Amino acid sequence: MPGVSLVGSGSACLTVRLTNDDLSQRVDTSDEWISARTGIRQRHIATPQDSLASLATEAAQNALAMADMAAEEIDLIVLATSTPDDLFGTACQVQKALGATRAVAFDLTAACSGFVFALVTASQYIRTGVFKNVIVIGADVLSRWVDWDDRTTCVLFGDGAGAVVLRASERDRLLGFELCSDGTLNHCLNLAYATESADLVKDIAVQKGTFSPITMNGREVYKFAVSRVPEVIEKALFRASLTTADIDWLVLHQANQRILDAVANRLDVPSERVVSNMANHGNTSAASIPLALDEAVRAGKIQPDDVIATAGFGAGLTWGAAIIQWG
Ligand code: ACO
Repeated sequence: MPGVSLVGSGSACLTVRLTNDDLSQRVDTSDEWISARTGIRQRHIATPQDSLASLATEAAQNALAMADMAAEEIDLIVLATSTPDDLFGTACQVQKALGATRAVAFDLTAACSGFVFALVTASQYIRTGVFKNVIVIGADVLSRWVDWDDRTTCVLFGDGAGAVVLRASERDRLLGFELCSDGTLNHCLNLAYATESADLVKDIAVQKGTFSPITMNGREVYKFAVSRVPEVIEKALFRASLTTADIDWLVLHQANQRILDAVANRLDVPSERVVSNMANHGNTSAASIPLALDEAVRAGKIQPDDVIATAGFGAGLTWGAAIIQWG
C-alpha cells in the first residue's frame, strides 16, 4: 500500500491587519479583555478585492513551490472551507487559477476541523493508489459572516489560507488519525441558513432566505474543546503506536490560547512544543492549522521527521486529530 508524505506547505499573505484597539472603536471591548481571554492581539482581514479562491490559490502556489511540484502534476485538490465564493464549490476556480489541468477538485466543509478532515480524506486516495500528488488547502474568509456588532464573537475570527502538498511515498507519514462528529451539539456554533417561505404558485411555496451571521455558545464550545481534543489526540496516537512523549510539535486549531494551554497541559506537552500564532491571526477556521504549520516550517522550527500532533475542532460539532511526520 502506498504511503503519504507531506512535502510542502504554503500560506497566503493578507496585508490588512485589524488590531484589538481597532475593534474597540466598533464594539464595547478592549485589547486587555481580548488578549487576556483569548491570546489574540490582531487578525488579518481579506480586502474587498480578495476572493476565497485567490487566497486559496496563493497558499497552494507557495506550497507547490516548496514541494518543487508543477501544477500539471497535481491529481487532486481538496479545498476545506466554510466560506466558499460559490456554494456549488470553489475548488474548481482554484484548479483553473493554478493551471492544474489534470486535477479533479472539490470542496469539503467541516468548519474548523476542515483541514484535518481534508488531510485524512486526501490521504485515502493516495493510500488506495488512485492518486499520487494531492494538494490540501484550508481557507476561510469568516469576516464575511461575522456580526461585527456582536462583541462575543467578532473579536475571535480572522481570514486566512494555508495549504500542504501530499505525495505518494514508500513510507507512510500519516501515522494515525481519528475523526469525530456530534450533531447533538450542532446548536452551539452555527452559520445557518435562515429560511423564509415565499409563495411560488398556488399551494406551493419555496424557501427564500440568506445565511445568518455566526452564532456561538462560547462556554459550551470551550468545555467541548478542552475535554474532547486531548482525548482524540490520544486515540490518534494509540493508532500510531505512539505516546504523548513522542510529540515534537502540537499544532492545534488556533481558537483560543487558553484552549491550547489546557490541551497541552492535559497531554503534558511543554509550552515550547506548542505552535501558536493566535496573537497574530486569531481564529482563521479551516486555514488555521496549515497556516500555523507553514509558519513553523518556514521559521525552521519543524524539521524533517518531526512528529506533529494536529487537531481541529469546531462547528458540527466536529473534531479530529492526525499524527504526521513532516517531510
Ligand atoms: N469584550 C469585553 N467583554 C466581553 C466581550 C468582549 N469582546 N465578550 C464578552 N464579554 C463579556 C460578557 O458579556 C460577560 O459579561 P457579564 O459577565 O457582564 O455577562 C463577560 O465578558 C464574560 O463573558 P464569557 O462569555 O463568560 O467569557 P469567557 O471567559 O467564556 O470567554 C470566549 C469568552 C473567549 C468566547 C470563550 O468562551 C471561548 O474562547 N470559547 C471558545 C470559543 C471558540 O473557540 N470558538 C471557535 C470554535 S472553532 C469554529 O468552528 C468556528
